[in-house]
Amino acid sequence: MKDDIKKEITYKYLKEDELNGISRLIKSMKKQSDDILYIRNNSIEYYQWMYFNNPAGDAVIASAWHKGVLIATFALAPKKALINGTEMIFGKPMDMFTDPDYQGLSIMSVLTKMVFEEAYKKGIDAWFINPSGNSYPIFKNKWGYKELFEMFFRYRILNLKILASTIKTEKSKKAALKAAAFFGNPFVSLKRNKNYKYDIQKTEYFDQRFDELWERAKKDYKNAIVRDSTYLNWRYNENPDKYDPYILLSGGKIYGYVVTKNTLRRGVKTGEIMDIFYDRDLPDAGHELLLYAQERLYEQGCGVCQAWDFEDSLLSKLYLKAGLKKKRAIVKTLFSPDCEIPNFYNKEHWLMTESDGNDV
Ligand SMILES: CC(C)(COP(=O)(O)OP(=O)(O)OC[C@H]1O[C@@H](n2cnc3c(N)ncnc32)[C@H](O)[C@@H]1OP(=O)(O)O)[C@@H](O)C(=O)NCCC(=O)NCCS
Repeated sequence: MKDDIKKEITYKYLKEDELNGISRLIKSMKKQSDDILYIRNNSIEYYQWMYFNNPAGDAVIASAWHKGVLIATFALAPKKALINGTEMIFGKPMDMFTDPDYQGLSIMSVLTKMVFEEAYKKGIDAWFINPSGNSYPIFKNKWGYKELFEMFFRYRILNLKILASTIKTEKSKKAALKAAAFFGNPFVSLKRNKNYKYDIQKTEYFDQRFDELWERAKKDYKNAIVRDSTYLNWRYNENPDKYDPYILLSGGKIYGYVVTKNTLRRGVKTGEIMDIFYDRDLPDAGHELLLYAQERLYEQGCGVCQAWDFEDSLLSKLYLKAGLKKKRAIVKTLFSPDCEIPNFYNKEHWLMTESDGNDV
């Protein structure tokens, strides 16, 4: 039976006018409704933006079909990056899904082979992936991917009342509200004491001053996605989801930015620190950007604020100082096994924020 189905499956690289199939497949595999978990858009517009409007180049998308229906997909998006201080294109695999009725038929083995072969042809020979619990053993044990560091979320509670209101049982809810009343809100007291040294403001568009910032500040970031204005406008302005970028100015010059987004996790409105990049020569620039971002997230009604981190990361101390002290949820991160670029596997070199992961 399995062999009969396998013979009927056809494979091809996906084209721009076939995105409807991916949107349908991925939406159908979602386990929770958008009221409980909303991380990102899954519309055709999202896939158009992600796969075909990327300034670093079109994505490589492989798909499997059965009786005219798209049943599996796997893609790799190119990313312009600075690796070991040199600009190159590396890849970010994403959207790895096989319809549950067709899992275990080696379909993903075929799709990954197609994608990586095509990526090599395009000169992309290194990538990192954030696998799910299902795909982690396949990448790590079967295909020998390297685990350089353990990524996790660092978070802080911004508003206990908001967290308490999402608790289902009445008894626990009452206890949480009591705790909220007793402890007050540590975040608000911190905010009251804060005097900013620098001017921080919202921005709508990333102009050429961001190219200057990237050129000036990149010396301190050896492995990082190139955060120039073209990339930033694509990533945050042209994306069908909403992002809030804030910039830090001193003497009329931009010294850094932070980008936030609202998501919903377990029904709790969550403030994500998507990206933070700043000139490390300016004292306290990163710290002030993080505090400012948290204030805005608090005002937007977020119960929690969180950011991606790994031990000894470039941003780790900054997150801790800005109050993101608690750890939760490990995000598996694996690197392709046969990359020969020097320092690709050097964890101290990586600047990695949640926006580099693409999923939010
Ligand atoms: C993860 C997922 C994409 C795998 O798809 P699939 O089509 O069932 O995978 P395949 O049958 O092609 O398996 C891939 C290979 O890994 C092997 N494999 C499967 N489970 C494994 C495990 N636990 N350890 C090691 N190898 C494993 C398979 O034997 C196969 O190798 P083979 O072709 O040489 O036999 C699918 O389970 C899925 O869509 N899950 C839900 C969504 C998800 O978690 N996506 C991943 C997001 S990163």
